[in-house]
Amino acid sequence: MDSKALPPGWRLVTLPEVDSTNEEVKRRESADPGEGLVVTAAIQTAGRGRRGRPWNSPAGNLYVSIRLSIGDDLASAARLSFVAAVALVDALKATAPHLSVGLKWPNDVLVNGSKVSGILLESHNGSIILGVGVNLISAPEPGSTPYPATSLRAEGADIGRDDLLRIFLGELFKMVGLWRTGGFAPVRLAWLARACGIGKPVVARLQNGEEATGTFADLDDEGALVIEGAFGTRRILAGDVFFPHPTAPASR
Ligand code: BTN
Repeated sequence: MDSKALPPGWRLVTLPEVDSTNEEVKRRESADPGEGLVVTAAIQTAGRGRRGRPWNSPAGNLYVSIRLSIGDDLASAARLSFVAAVALVDALKATAPHLSVGLKWPNDVLVNGSKVSGILLESHNGSIILGVGVNLISAPEPGSTPYPATSLRAEGADIGRDDLLRIFLGELFKMVGLWRTGGFAPVRLAWLARACGIGKPVVARLQNGEEATGTFADLDDEGALVIEGAFGTRRILAGDVFFPHPTAPASR
């Protein structure tokens, strides 16, 4: 990808293979410090997902990590995950307008109801490393992931890796700017406008194995998922979300 296509001041490193692009951004801290280091690789040999899960990373999909100078506290990381998810939906909509794309809390992009990407945030020496994987041409086998997965190709969209990367980085730069100037409120509204399943039944599987079942009511101003159920209203800060029935993204 032409470096002129990058947001101002951002630098791109393209590798044939790496353990994890998140790890590579961390290793390059002294050689290339500061915001905007972008590392992408054709293959990851030890790609990581959320909650210590592996992220299967064969050739042909997009694997990218970006260092952002945002406080490495948990609250900033949580908010950045919504910023990145909105940017990714908008990049996919720009490259394949016919796709039915939406968000599942907190940051999974669904296409026709199946997961097509993952976002992993890690803090490192005062910055946040934002790692994004997008299933362009292949997805894990059915039954091998907690949530059904798909690829853009399987959903009828042949999107080039460089095109998606360029457009995603541009959208990310814009959304991070919006968050910095306007705070979380406009990000929250943008996320809600792209969310799947608002007002519909939802099941949140919590880290302790407990399940909260109810109606997906809202995203609050700290990024918590708000569920209303027989128990009253509950805020979920961490967990995996499932929709018992097929859902469509909110109309925009
Ligand atoms: C998830 O579990 O949904 C998050 C998956 C994040 C995968 C990406 S691929 C690029 C970056 N490098 C990694 O090792 N993980 C992230």
